[in-house]
Amino acid sequence: MDRIRIVGGNRLNGVIPISGAKNAALPLMIASLLTSDTLTLENVPHLADVEQLLRILGNHGVDVSVNGRREHQDGSYARTIHFTCRTIVDTTAPYELVSKMRASFWVIGPLLAREGRARVSLPGGCAIGTRPVDLFIEGLAALGAQMEIDGGYINATAPKGGLIGAHYTFPKVSVGATHVMLMAASLARGTTVIGNAAREPEIVDLANCLNAMGARISGAGTSTITIEGVSSLSGARHRVLPDRIETGTYAMAVAMTGGDVTLQGTDGTLLETALETIRRAGAEITMVDGGIRVIGHGDDIRPVDIVTEPFPGFPTDLQAQFMGLMTRAKGVSHVTETIFENRFMHVQELARLGAKISLNGQTARIEGVSRLKGAPVMATDLRASVSLVIGGLAAEGETIVNRVYHLDRGFERLEEKLTRCGAIVERVSE
Ligand code: EPZ
Repeated sequence: MDRIRIVGGNRLNGVIPISGAKNAALPLMIASLLTSDTLTLENVPHLADVEQLLRILGNHGVDVSVNGRREHQDGSYARTIHFTCRTIVDTTAPYELVSKMRASFWVIGPLLAREGRARVSLPGGCAIGTRPVDLFIEGLAALGAQMEIDGGYINATAPKGGLIGAHYTFPKVSVGATHVMLMAASLARGTTVIGNAAREPEIVDLANCLNAMGARISGAGTSTITIEGVSSLSGARHRVLPDRIETGTYAMAVAMTGGDVTLQGTDGTLLETALETIRRAGAEITMVDGGIRVIGHGDDIRPVDIVTEPFPGFPTDLQAQFMGLMTRAKGVSHVTETIFENRFMHVQELARLGAKISLNGQTARIEGVSRLKGAPVMATDLRASVSLVIGGLAAEGETIVNRVYHLDRGFERLEEKLTRCGAIVERVSE
């Protein structure tokens, strides 16, 4: 099993190219099931989760061709993938595939909308909470689908003639359930209005792509989305938006180690709350042509309290990294997690590096320390593992991050991007 070895203490200086967003690429890829024409996605990141979803889509009958994998001078990749699903050959998404990644459950929306039925295993994914699927079941049932749970699977059946547009308000904001409703309602008869919809930029990206495919969606990015159903969707070409979580992660790394880094190919408006928080912690952040520039001072980090919230609030996917940054703040800070009930597994691992963190329910109290010291640590989930990398970059001596496969799910060529900026980070294969 691979490990990441980090020798901390170096400042980061240079350019880091930001990849396409994992959490946009996954639903966009799934949208290819909605049409028999070719959907072309540009800027698709090369990640374990993307490769896993390619296997899942292949199982349903999607032909995939990858090209344009061009390496630019700054080290960035431009990967373009063509997806063609002439016919859906299988409406079952089996346990062996779906249990590995929660987002693969989302195929339920397009399968149901295009074929009138779907049998999808209950999902897996990062162990960050119970992560139920009640909102998907309620939402699709509102469109007329019959939903049954049987032997670990959801059997969904559309009414004769297909799904029917409806007004449905989510009792709780869910990114995944909003994605699924957008896809399903695009091919429903009549108009659907979704209330309390997720407002994440990845929702807007999916809506833009679906509209390019011929859907009629308005209001994406607000909490009320209206979808006028159409009878079929066509192919399109769409560019995956930049990864705001990767952007925020590297911005926090620079704030932590000190240095001067330009995050290239990203868009600061995708993560204003997070950037403002990092500024309050002491880093200088400015928008520059084609990206953002982060200047960190390293040893003068100010404590800031955060509460995770749905977009546009502080993202849960940056909570672990921010806690990593706060471990070296001059004073006490509090991090409150409101989205997932079990997203503090990084706490005990950060403690191995010398962090002082105590937990009280959903709030962590972090007492900043003047130095962290390298240690062997265990990656427990995707974002938790990168918080350990950030900690390791600022710690004195050697940190070994075990179970690196978590990182490979969501960070493209992390060690290479950091090494180019002067960090000592290497992958050790056994
Ligand atoms: C998406 O997960 C992201 N995944 C997550 O990123 C992210 O943490 C999360 O949104 C919140 O921003 C992808 O986009 C692939 P939710 P999702 O449904 O859609 C509860 C990462 O590290 N809920 O918005 O699964 C749920 O338990 C990942 O990249 C229900 O109660 O998240 C949670 O408490 C991890 N019933 C809350 O809603 C449901 O039916 C929000 O979850 C569905 C969700």
